[in-house]
Amino acid sequence: MKTLVVYASQTGFTKRYAEWIARRLQADLMDVHDAKKKKKSDFDSYDAIIYGGWVMAGKVTQSKWFLAKASAWKEKKLALFCVGASPKENPDVEQSLKNLLTDEQRKYIRSFYCQGGLDYDKMKAPSKFACKALVSMLNKKKDATQKEKTWRKCSPIPMIFRTRNTLSRSSNM
Ligand SMILES: Cc1cc2nc3c(=O)[nH]c(=O)nc-3n(C[C@H](O)[C@H](O)[C@H](O)COP(=O)(O)O)c2cc1C
Repeated sequence: MKTLVVYASQTGFTKRYAEWIARRLQADLMDVHDAKKKKKSDFDSYDAIIYGGWVMAGKVTQSKWFLAKASAWKEKKLALFCVGASPKENPDVEQSLKNLLTDEQRKYIRSFYCQGGLDYDKMKAPSKFACKALVSMLNKKKDATQKEKTWRKCSPIPMIFRTRNTLSRSSNM
C-alpha cells in the first residue's frame, strides 16, 4: 500500500509525529506547503493519505486543504491527526476532534490527537506572545476550571520525551 503523510508544523512537534508515522508505514512525507503546489493527479497513486496539523485556538492548521480534497479521495484510506499542547485529558481535545469533522466526513476519515508542547524558542513572535499571555493568565487565576487547569500543564515538553510508545497509545488507526 502506497501511503502519503502531509503535515503542517510551526515548531516541529507535528513534523516529528508525521516523520514517525511515515517511517512506521514506509510512507512518503510532505510539508503541506509543498503538497499545495502539487497537481491533483500527483495524489492518484496513493492508497492512503494522512494529514497532520497543529492546533491553534481549537482549529487544526491547514486542515481546510486536506478536507477540501478528501471528498474526492473517498476510495483511499484517510486519516487526520492534530497536535496540541493540551494534555489528552483536557475536555477541549475531545471537543476539537468532534468539531473537526462532519458526521459525513467521519464515515471515511479517521481522526486522532497527539500531545505536542510549547516550544517558545521556535514559535513566531505573535504565537509566543499569545501563548505566554494565556499560560501566565491561567497560572494566576485562583478559580480556574478543571479545563483551564489542564492548560497550566502545557509547559514546554522537550521532544525527547515524546516517545514512539506515546504515539502508538494516542492512535486509533
Ligand atoms: C496561537 C496559538 C494557539 C494555540 N491554541 C491551542 C489550542 O487551542 N489547543 C492546544 O492544545 N494547543 C494550542 N496551541 C499549542 C500548539 O498546538 C502546540 O504548541 C503544538 O505542539 C504546535 O505544534 P508544532 O510544533 O507542530 O507547530 C496553540 C499555540 C499557539 C501558538
